[in-house]
Amino acid sequence: WLIQTANTHNCACYLVGGCVRDWLLERPVGDIDVVVEGDAIALAKVWAAVWPDQLHTHPPFGTATLSWQDSSLDLISARSEYYPQPAALPVVSFANLAADLARRDFTINCLALRLINQPTELIDPQHGYADLQHGLIRVLHDLSFINDPTRILRAIRFAARLNFELEPQTAILLQHALPWLDQTTPARLWNELGLLLTEPSALVALSLADSWGVLNQLFGSGGWSASLNQQAQTLLANQSDQQLAIVWLLLMSQLAPSAAQTQTQRFSLPKPIRLMVEQWPQLVAFEATLSQTTLSAGQLDRLLSPFEPLLLEVWASNQATSIQHQIKYYLQYLRPIASILTGRDLQAQGIPAGPNYKTLLAEARERQLDQFEQANPNLC
Ligand code: CTP
Repeated sequence: WLIQTANTHNCACYLVGGCVRDWLLERPVGDIDVVVEGDAIALAKVWAAVWPDQLHTHPPFGTATLSWQDSSLDLISARSEYYPQPAALPVVSFANLAADLARRDFTINCLALRLINQPTELIDPQHGYADLQHGLIRVLHDLSFINDPTRILRAIRFAARLNFELEPQTAILLQHALPWLDQTTPARLWNELGLLLTEPSALVALSLADSWGVLNQLFGSGGWSASLNQQAQTLLANQSDQQLAIVWLLLMSQLAPSAAQTQTQRFSLPKPIRLMVEQWPQLVAFEATLSQTTLSAGQLDRLLSPFEPLLLEVWASNQATSIQHQIKYYLQYLRPIASILTGRDLQAQGIPAGPNYKTLLAEARERQLDQFEQANPNLC
C-alpha cells in the first residue's frame, strides 16, 4: 500500500543507508530511511493519514519522521549537500537519488533499493557491496572527513561494530583530518561520541580511537590502555546499564582533574556524571587515608558517604586490594544501614535545632556503625 501511494503521487522511493547495509549483512535492521525523489513531507502526510502513527515534519530539511512503538521511518527528500567551509554545516538543496547518495559518508552507507512492487536491483554507485563483503570502510572522496569531521567518529563506530577495517587511503585521510575535530562544535561531536560510547562495541571503539589518535585529539591527552579496558569490562559485567557513566569516568580518570571537568562540561554530560567527575579528585585525596586498614566502620562511612556508589566502584577498580575490600564492605553492608537517630529524635529530646544537629547525627551514626561492626566482626 505504501508503495502504491508513492507511485500514485509520482514519487520514486528508495530504502537507503544503514537499513540496506544491515539487511545485506543479515544484521538486525534499526531505523528505516527512505529517500523520496519528490516531496517527502507531502508523502509522509498521506501515509500518516491512513497509518495511525506519530508524524513529525522538518520543513527546512524536507524530511519527516513516522514513529511507531520503538521504531521509526525517516522520509527524506533527496538532496545534495555543499560544504561552504570545512567542519561547518552543509548547505542543502533538493536533488535526485544519485546526488543524495553522493553526499554520504562511506560506500557501505551508499546503497539503495527502490521500493516497487517487484524484485529490484541494488543501487550501488560506489561499489559499497564489495566493501561490505571485504569488511572495508571507505570514504567517497578525499574531503569527506574534513567537510564533516564527525565522520571520524562514525568510522570508528562502524569499524568496531562490524569488525571492519579502514581502507588504507581512508585511514590516511582520517589522520590528516584529525585537527579538524577541534573546529567542530561540541554538540555535533557529542551526537556521534555519545553514540560511540553507548554502543555494545564501545570498548573496541575506544581502543581504535586511542590507537588512531582520536582520543588524544579530542581530549588533549589521556587514552584507553589495555588495563583501562580490563577495568571497564569488569565493571560493565555487573552494570551494563551504567555504560556511559563508567566509560566516561574511566576516560576522564586519565586527565588532570581540571581538564576532566572542562571536557565533561564541554560535552554537557548528564548531571549525575558531571557530579561524579567533580567528586573524583576528593576521592583520590582519600587514597592514603583508606590505605590504613585501621579505619573503623563508622569512620569509613563518614569518609565515603558523600560519594556516589558508582563513583566509588569505578575508582576502586584500579586500587589496591585492601582499598577495594573496604569499598566493597562499605557499599554492601554499611551504606544500606539506615540511621536510627533522626532530627526528629533530637527535637523530641528538646535539643534546639541548629547547625549542631549535623554533628550530633553524624556522631550518632558513627557510633551506630561501630556497634554494627563489633556485632558482625566476620563481615569486614
Ligand atoms: N550520514 C552521513 N554523514 C554523517 C551522518 C550520516 O553521510 N555525518 C549518512 C549516512 O549515509 C547514513 C545516513 O546518513 O547511512 C543516516 O545516518 P544515521 O542514521 O546516523 O546512520 P546509520 O547508518 O543508519 O547508522 P546506525 O546504524 O547507527 O543507525
